[in-house]
Amino acid sequence: MPLVTFSHPEHKIKTVYAVAGSHTETVLNLAKNHQIPIAFDCQDGECGTCLVKVSSLAKKDRMSGPPTEKERNLLKQLGKLTDEEISRILVDDLPPSWRLACQMIVRDEDILVEY
Ligand code: FES
Repeated sequence: MPLVTFSHPEHKIKTVYAVAGSHTETVLNLAKNHQIPIAFDCQDGECGTCLVKVSSLAKKDRMSGPPTEKERNLLKQLGKLTDEEISRILVDDLPPSWRLACQMIVRDEDILVEY
C-alpha cells in the first residue's frame, strides 16, 4: 500500500496508507478521510484552493499520474506550470510538482504532499 505523507508548517506531519490501485481516490479525499486540513472549495479542479506540492519518496522519479488537461490549464493560470513544462509532461509523461489535491489520483507510490 502506498504511503502518503502530509506536511504543513503549522501542522504535525502525518503519514497515512492509501488504497493502491483504486484509481479513484484523490489526494484531497485521502486527506479528508484522515482529518488532514488541506484547504478546498470546488473539489472539481476549478478554483485552485487545494494547490499542493508533491514529491516522490520512492526511488523512481514519478509522482502519480500526469494531470488532466483541466488540471494543467488551472495550474498554468495559477503560474505553477509553464507551456514548456506542459510540453514535457505530455512528451515524457512526467507529472509536475504542483498539483490540485482534488484532481490528483493516488497511485501505488509513496509521496510527500506539502500543503
Ligand atoms: S478544490 Fe477547487 S481546484 Fe481543488
